[in-house]
Amino acid sequence: MTTPTIELKPSANPLSAAEREAILANPGFGRHFTDHMVTIKWTEGRGWHDGQLVPYAPISLDPATTVLHYAQEIFEGLKAYRRPDGSVATFRPEKNAERFQRSARRLAMPELPVETFIEACDALVRQDRAWVPAHGGEESLYLRPFMIATEVGLGVKPANEYLFLVIASPAGAYFPGGVQPVSIWVSEDRVRAVPGGMGDAKTGGNYAASLLAQAEAATKGCDQVCYLDAVEHTWVEELGGMNLYFVYGNKIVTPSLTGSILEGVTRDSLLTVARDLGYEAEEGRVSVEQWQRDSENGSLTEVFACGTAAVITPVGTVKRAGAEWKQSGGEPGEVTLRLRQALLDIQRGTAPDTHGWMHQL
Ligand code: COI
Repeated sequence: MTTPTIELKPSANPLSAAEREAILANPGFGRHFTDHMVTIKWTEGRGWHDGQLVPYAPISLDPATTVLHYAQEIFEGLKAYRRPDGSVATFRPEKNAERFQRSARRLAMPELPVETFIEACDALVRQDRAWVPAHGGEESLYLRPFMIATEVGLGVKPANEYLFLVIASPAGAYFPGGVQPVSIWVSEDRVRAVPGGMGDAKTGGNYAASLLAQAEAATKGCDQVCYLDAVEHTWVEELGGMNLYFVYGNKIVTPSLTGSILEGVTRDSLLTVARDLGYEAEEGRVSVEQWQRDSENGSLTEVFACGTAAVITPVGTVKRAGAEWKQSGGEPGEVTLRLRQALLDIQRGTAPDTHGWMHQL
């Protein structure tokens, strides 16, 4: 695999410091973008080439570009954090780079070398360092690496040209309520992914597939949809855009990776953080019946969602056809908040990074 260098063409017209500070004061999620982006091309026979760090700008695509028709696209999400000494670090970027390679394999796309993925993220964060929010708040800089098929033509086949990009967006809480508990609608008919499908790849198609069920969740007054497995419609898989954890007193359980669940970096990190804090942490199967029964009998003490964007968000209310119940009285649970704080402390540099997870820039 070729590893291109990334040539810098800085913006002649970056946002002023005052405009940037106004955005950083209330960034929301995914609404504002920094001054630059990275682009790297891949062409059959030539490999990766033309790495550039250029001003953030629209890209022009022929209407017959294959990604627009057959959705050959993958993406990632990771965050850069401001540390107490003002330096900046990203969280486990190699995990995202490796998952990006797995997603690429699943969608018959070329694999970007792990070091190029990390270098592209680093180059963008270094250039737009002023966009990394101040230490001490909930905010961070969300990085969105992605790759699209850019061959022009309507034949259904793996493309012979691709474009990899990284853009960055200052991010506050994913849910408008911040750490306030979210409500979940358990969809028992629509599924997100099927065995042998691409549920474990981070590709836009999975998110497109989630939108109708997500809209149905909204009509039930819920913030997120929860999917069950596609075969038995019984086993809890994940939410529209994040993984789930169940808390049984001193033990946390997350659905095992069945091939149709996305292997979240936050999900993985929490198995370790929880054990460090003295909890039992395991992967297993949880049915929706068990979820309801154990919540009603009190043995299931808390439920939370987790993901790069969502961090750790408590689940307050759960609804399914014919039933509704509250988790931990509808309040953020103690274990949820403890795990959230422990993970954020590592990410923000206020707790020791004993697992070597932080990538200092
Ligand atoms: C992330 O958590 O990074 C994601 O990609 C999820 C998306 C819903 C924002």
